[in-house]
Amino acid sequence: MTPLPKFLSIGHRGARGHEPENTLRSVRRALELSAHGIEIDVWFVDGELVVIHDAKLERTTNGHGYVSRKTFAQLRALDAGKGERIPTLREVFETVDRRAFINIELKGRRTAGPVRALIAEFVEQCGWRYEDFVVSSFHRAELRAISDPRIPIALLLARPSRLYALSARRVRASAVNPALLFVTRRFVEDAHRRGLRVFVYTVNSPADISRMRKLGVDGVFTDFPERALAP
Ligand code: G3P
Ligand code: CA
Repeated sequence: MTPLPKFLSIGHRGARGHEPENTLRSVRRALELSAHGIEIDVWFVDGELVVIHDAKLERTTNGHGYVSRKTFAQLRALDAGKGERIPTLREVFETVDRRAFINIELKGRRTAGPVRALIAEFVEQCGWRYEDFVVSSFHRAELRAISDPRIPIALLLARPSRLYALSARRVRASAVNPALLFVTRRFVEDAHRRGLRVFVYTVNSPADISRMRKLGVDGVFTDFPERALAP
């Protein structure tokens, strides 16, 4: 990977503004658009790490019901948009092939162990570095279960909380990922003072991207990665 700039463009669910979210097609598009990082959502189902956002299948596939109640074969038979299959996390790693860092958001329970093992495999056997990954989640127990200090952690924050820094410390996070709605200069400065980097989701309009730059945030998750590259 080439050295990263100060402000990072992280493709949200790949390049969701252009392609069906969380598919390999979306990941490839984000890479073509020169995203510095790729964010995807992960569940552990039927012994496999699968990449999909919702707990249910309806919004993004032609399937019905809960992801967690399906077999891997059933999930793989579905259309996730434009004929794409629901990918595995391993397929995402292979597709990215160290051209960007990967932000793995743990959505389901019991995903931490298998994700930790897969990262270790790619570091030990495929020339990746631990810094090429970041694991994020709203679920603090899952983040604690990563339990490998070499794997960078980011705590997702859906709403403002005075205790956010304490929570971040407890999960050993090096970054916090707040929702756009509550990002202020004061928050960014406070996080930086505490040694936490700040990556904001989901920032799509050029005006908001520019505002985030001016506030000094470290990067944004965006459905349009090309919009958050250097002006
Ligand atoms: O990781 C940032 C963002 O993806 C978190 O929210 O709902 O898009 O997974 P969501
Ligand atoms: Ca996500």
